[in-house]
Amino acid sequence: MTFKSFVLTIAIMAVLFSLSHASDPSPLQDFCVAVNDSKNAVFVNGKFCKNPMDVNADDFFRPGLNLAGNTSNQLGSAVTAVNVNNLAGLNTLGISLARIDFAPYGLNPPHTHPRATEVLALFEGTLYVGFVLSNPGPNMKNKLFTKILHPGDVFVFPVGLIHFQFNVGKTDAVAFAGLSSQNPGVITIANAVFGSDPPINDDVLAKAFQIDKKVVDYLQSQFWWDNN
Ligand SMILES: *[C@@H]1O[C@H](CO)[C@@H](O)[C@H](O)[C@H]1NC(C)=O
Ligand SMILES: *[C@@H]1O[C@H](CO)[C@@H](O)[C@H](O)[C@H]1NC(C)=O
Repeated sequence: MTFKSFVLTIAIMAVLFSLSHASDPSPLQDFCVAVNDSKNAVFVNGKFCKNPMDVNADDFFRPGLNLAGNTSNQLGSAVTAVNVNNLAGLNTLGISLARIDFAPYGLNPPHTHPRATEVLALFEGTLYVGFVLSNPGPNMKNKLFTKILHPGDVFVFPVGLIHFQFNVGKTDAVAFAGLSSQNPGVITIANAVFGSDPPINDDVLAKAFQIDKKVVDYLQSQFWWDNN
């Protein structure tokens, strides 16, 4: 092996190694309860940690997920997230949770979680769910996978892929989802593209979507409800 190919091999291995560690890092201690006040705190990963001597059971507790979110909005859905921002004990643990409520025909619109895979369990109602692949190859490019879910059904949305859930039933629907990050993030496609602040240059969007600039301006002038 020449020196050049050796260096190249090392570089490729470094990239693969960092890719294989693209999700939240494993915790290096039992817990690291997040604390706002950085005085007398220890920084590990994610947030500053509370002094373990000051930690109690309430740091790992959050009530209220029995309550339905308010679905009286133009999407007819509401996401109630439980993550490190409202349950400090999740810090460094690589996991979080969401309750998703749907009015009849309510939609959780196409979105992605940049840092998490999602596993969703349907408790009530009927959901049409799906995700779209990235463009890995000629036969799989942007392939759509969909399924109709009934109570008790579970569906997985792989990390980073655009996905949606639509209540196709005549009754409310309720789902709970586990996410493989303490802070999964959410990018709602319509909001990010047409509701960015400040707006994306309309020449960019007209060309990207191959539509008239007037249509772009119309879309940009809409109010894009955020159900999170
Ligand atoms: C639900 O949201 C709607 C629209 O924002 C609001 O008018 C209504 O009062 C809310 N309902 C509850 C129970 O909070
Ligand atoms: C941190 O401070 C913000 C703003 O004061 C507050 O809203 C939030 O609940 C606090 N988070 C924790 C984990 O204490």
